[in-house]
Amino acid sequence: MRLAGKVAIVTGTSSNLGGGIASGIAAEGASVVCVDVLPDNASDCAHEIERGGGRAMAAPCDVTKEEQVRSVIARSRKTYGAVDILVNGAAIFNEKGVLDMPLAEWERQIAIILTGAFLFTKYAAQSMIEQGRRGSIINIISTAGHQGQPRNVAYCTGKSGLLNFTRSVAMELAGYGIRVNSLTPTATDPSEGIERAIRWGRSVPDADRIKQRFEAFRKRVPMQKLPKPYDYARAAVFLASDDAAMITAMDLRVDGGALSRYWAWVPDTPEGEG
Ligand SMILES: NC(=O)c1ccc[n+]([C@@H]2O[C@H](COP(=O)([O-])OP(=O)(O)OC[C@H]3O[C@@H](n4cnc5c(N)ncnc54)[C@H](O)[C@@H]3O)[C@@H](O)[C@H]2O)c1
Repeated sequence: MRLAGKVAIVTGTSSNLGGGIASGIAAEGASVVCVDVLPDNASDCAHEIERGGGRAMAAPCDVTKEEQVRSVIARSRKTYGAVDILVNGAAIFNEKGVLDMPLAEWERQIAIILTGAFLFTKYAAQSMIEQGRRGSIINIISTAGHQGQPRNVAYCTGKSGLLNFTRSVAMELAGYGIRVNSLTPTATDPSEGIERAIRWGRSVPDADRIKQRFEAFRKRVPMQKLPKPYDYARAAVFLASDDAAMITAMDLRVDGGALSRYWAWVPDTPEGEG
């Protein structure tokens, strides 16, 4: 148990990535606070962890609302005594470009990705410092935060902002022994998330269509397979654990080599040529 006795807050605990990361952290012995604006996503995630023998609680919260964030930190401390690990994963998808993105939608997407991470990091770090806990903060990026994806302007901008937020905050908090890193997922094998959703009692009528859509991504990845939430969970556990004691301000890519691929090379061509 690499995280025994630790308390982790995970934001954005849907049945997909956040739920997988929360479960993976709980499986290593941490108590997990499942944060989501949708109360069912927070409670279904927490219930599944408890059914598996772990410790978890649901904390419905909009990450952009300062008072709600403060109250989650207070509840975590009251229930479990501390905050040691924070995973900032809450996000929304809204694939629009600069020409058609309404201002209000831009502001909302940026606020969830950046302001949400700012608020949770601020109050979690204050709590860690007050209690002398040498914590670990992990921000969830995306390969779209490293590259210029067209017609996904707020997501690309928010995620790349989160990359340098990570480095800036890592410098500020290094002296307190708090490590701040990011984790970069990419297009994700949907099968694990679909299975988790079904276990949570959700219906996924378009499962086949979703799997088909991701097949096109798989072919572009050097390893010729897509990561699953479980793969991100293992990486998050590593970053949160003492195994990563000297690692801060780093971005850990869990992308099967996608971001390092030579831009003109198409991996699934027989000759490996672009
Ligand atoms: N799915 C992928 O292939 C993929 C790839 C790269 C990066 N990511 C990143 O991984 C993370 C999780 O992605 P996912 O696919 O599981 O997405 P998802 O939509 O399944 O989960 C996101 C969760 O965030 C919650 N959320 C949205 N707004 C919120 C708010 N204001 N306050 C609190 N919670 C809020 C949603 O309710 C949802 O449960 C995101 O940060 C995403 O950008 C996902």
